[in-house]
Amino acid sequence: MARSILAFFCLAAVTQACVVDSTAPDVGALIAGQCDNADSDPDVDIRFDRDILPILSRDGENEPGCAECHFPQSNSPAGFEVTGLNLSSYQTLIRGGANSSGNIVVAGDPCASILWQKLGPAPPFGSRMPLSGPPFLSEDDRLLIHDWIAEGARDN
Ligand code: HEC
Repeated sequence: MARSILAFFCLAAVTQACVVDSTAPDVGALIAGQCDNADSDPDVDIRFDRDILPILSRDGENEPGCAECHFPQSNSPAGFEVTGLNLSSYQTLIRGGANSSGNIVVAGDPCASILWQKLGPAPPFGSRMPLSGPPFLSEDDRLLIHDWIAEGARDN
């Protein structure tokens, strides 16, 4: 009985990392519990062009960003070459990369979005982004990306 209740909650959980195995460590659930899908500031509309693309477009020289590794036109775009993830536009971003594809951005669900997961201290695979960090993105920048996904990850 307890197992089937657990299975039900696992199906309902936003994370894919839910394993019905009483011998498994609690790490997955603990991390999932720390993620909140709620828009931190529902009165403010986040826009891709104005708020998100400028973060992705930084070359990392003054502030951490993504362009030097995920824009195909950069000198040595390691992240693009290794995973195919191209962060230079909305259309290429939502296509995702080798390990993220359709889960790169799950509209309305930042906690299930690989983009959001890779920016935090417990990435689901590989390293925390940006790979050049620390420094990583500021809390304000991360919150913009979180809230943009929470608001539906629109091309706006
Ligand atoms: C110094 C180079 C570098 C920078 C800067 C960088 N990345 Fe990456 N990125 C990589 C490499 C290399 C990989 C593959 C290894 C890994 O997943 O850890 C990768 C993988 C990823 C993946 C997984 C893609 C997939 O489907 O496998 C995501 C998502 C990602 N990066 C997002 C970002 C974001 C967002 C930024 C900017 C905040 C960023 N990266 C900055 C090099 C970089």
